[in-house]
This record gives sequence, C-alpha cells and structure tokens, in this order.
Amino acid sequence: MSNAKENAALAALDFVEDGMMLGLGSGSTAEIFLEHLGERVAGGLRVQGVPTSARTAQVATENGIPLADANKIERIHLTIDGADEVNPEFCLIKGGGACLLREKIIAHASERMVVIADDRKMVDVLGAFPLPIEVDPFGMALTAEKIYQALIKSGCEAGQTVLRQKKDGSGPLVTDGGHYILDSRCRKIPKPADTADLLSRIPGVMEHGLFIDLADVIVIGETDHAKVME
Ligand code: 5RP
Repeated sequence: MSNAKENAALAALDFVEDGMMLGLGSGSTAEIFLEHLGERVAGGLRVQGVPTSARTAQVATENGIPLADANKIERIHLTIDGADEVNPEFCLIKGGGACLLREKIIAHASERMVVIADDRKMVDVLGAFPLPIEVDPFGMALTAEKIYQALIKSGCEAGQTVLRQKKDGSGPLVTDGGHYILDSRCRKIPKPADTADLLSRIPGVMEHGLFIDLADVIVIGETDHAKVME
C-alpha cells in the first residue's frame, strides 16, 4: 500500500463529523479512506454514505459503513474522492476508474468536496493523464470526432482517442451507467474551463473527467505526511 495514499486518506478523516451524509468516492485512495472510515464507524461515529460506484458500495458495506440511496437523500455534507491529476487552481482530471459520471453528480450535489491524492497527482498543467470521457455507445465515432474538434479548439494538443477495454480483454468497458469510456490524449489542457464547456455541449458526451470549481480542499499525501490545501 502506498504511504502517500494512506496519509492522504487518514488526513481526510479530520473533515468528517458525526451525523454527516458523505459522498463516497471511487478508486484505490478512496478505498483506503473507506477502510479507515469503517474503523471510526465501528468506534461509534454515525455517518451514512452515498457511493459513487458499485465497487465503492461493496467496499463500504464490507467496512460496515451504512449506505444511503442517492434518490432518497436531501443533502450531502461532504464528498471525499480521489483524482488522477490536480492543478494549482484545484481543477481535476477524474475517471481513471470509469466512475466519473456518478462521481460528478455526487460532487456537484455536495456542500464540500475533499480530494485525496498522492503527490504524483499534482501537476502544473492538466493533460498528461488521458482525459476520460463517458459517452453513449450510439454514434460513438461521430461523438469522438466532435470531442477531437472541441479539444483542438480549446487549445489542447489533442491526439489519439482510445475506447477503454475491460481488463480481461473481452470487449469495451461498460460503466455502472451503461456507457463507454473514451480516453482522449490531450497532452496539455491549457484552459480546462473552456475545454469542459465545449465537451459538455456534445450530445453523445454523458460526462467528461474535468472537474472544475468542485474541489474545496486538496489533501496531498506524501511518504511521511499529508499537505492540506484550502
Ligand atoms: C475513478 C477516479 C479515481 O478517483 C481516480 O482514478 C484516482 O484513483 P486512485 O486513487 O486509484 O489513483 O476518478 O473514476
């Protein structure tokens, strides 16, 4: 287990208060957080969690965290989630685990979002990590061309877009919402808000992995401590 991820996950517990409704992120760092949160719940902390993926629901349940139905809650006090890249303006790339649509729905509905990541995720300019874009399978080639045009228009050094495959090679990966993921090589995303805006206008795009103005706190884990930025 990475110490950096562990330190980020542990530091995020400081933001959790008794009685909170929590958005539960996805990915390996979020899962480490769930393990520690489960220990607190076992010790008497009363929280409920709204999972952002089927996998997170499973891990949360295994760790004794009570879950709430996203269709039956009135508010989410705090979401804790990972990221694939974070820039100094707190813009994120997310979706490495293919959960970006549900992650963004929950982050957007949350009063506060705390991002937990290891120090390799901090970058000056987003884009080295291929941008995950969740698309409807219908007309996907047409959508991919529109995505390429949007990336170029917003100043990205856009290159190849790859349809994400299942790890066992049995075909395209299907998200929890029944969509596909296109991973778009951008190299550099100099104006994330412009890119996000253009991608959001493409009908076949269910959601993209640029998270703008959503993160309130970034917790960067390093080998021996965590740095909290607000
Ligand atoms: C899943 C995500 C994850 O939060 C992101 O990929 C980071 O994952 P990890 O903590 O395993 O590095 O966005 O869709």
